[in-house]
Amino acid sequence: MRLDKFLANSGVGSRKEVKQIIKKGKVCVNGKSVKNPQHIVHEMLDTVTLFGEQIVYEPWIYIMMNKPSGVISATKDQRNQTVVDLLEDWMRDYEPFPVGRLDKDTTGLLLLTNDGQLAHQLLSPKKHVDKKYWVKIDCEMSEAMQEAIAQGITLEDGYTTKPGRLEISSALAGEGYITIQEGKFHQIKRMFQSMQAQVVQLKRLEMGTLKLDNNLKPGEVRLLTKKELEQLRHIKK
Ligand code: URA
Repeated sequence: MRLDKFLANSGVGSRKEVKQIIKKGKVCVNGKSVKNPQHIVHEMLDTVTLFGEQIVYEPWIYIMMNKPSGVISATKDQRNQTVVDLLEDWMRDYEPFPVGRLDKDTTGLLLLTNDGQLAHQLLSPKKHVDKKYWVKIDCEMSEAMQEAIAQGITLEDGYTTKPGRLEISSALAGEGYITIQEGKFHQIKRMFQSMQAQVVQLKRLEMGTLKLDNNLKPGEVRLLTKKELEQLRHIKK
């Protein structure tokens, strides 16, 4: 990897800023000053120091996104804008991917990472990680729906969903919070369809211990805090 990329990815500064720092001779690789930003370093084998202090390369990235409607949860797509397209260039260098899929019109909490192990833990049905959504349907939200969701709903393809939880916030407006542990294709929409209702809005609010940061506007991202990451890593059961 190029030295300027190594330093930018390590949070030292922007590509432009680190290039200047390197050209000023402030960076050493294995004890020798290197002034060429394009100098190739090995992230794990070479020792890079800045003003004498070692920079340890962090190979993983964990990004929280407030997914907007209209973008797809994929890394690449021929026709549509993807969630990865919304990231800054330096973030894309880590090759993050979305942890699970939200539909094109679903908004809210989406984690992007290059840590396949953590992604697997969050998505594995065996780990029973709660995913909580705010949902609005096109009709009244009833206690019968609440009971059916708690029991498990048989979808049109014959699959019966694992027990979920529906909290009704406004029955007449058709609004509430649904928590499920699975992530089958269009699952929540199909659950309501089986009860003769259409989902008109769906926003994910939580995934395990991770909660959507209300300060993030649709399309905005931020890195996970150390605390959020530690809590997520404790999922293992
Ligand atoms: N269930 C759905 O139907 N869609 C989503 O995007 C997520 C869960």
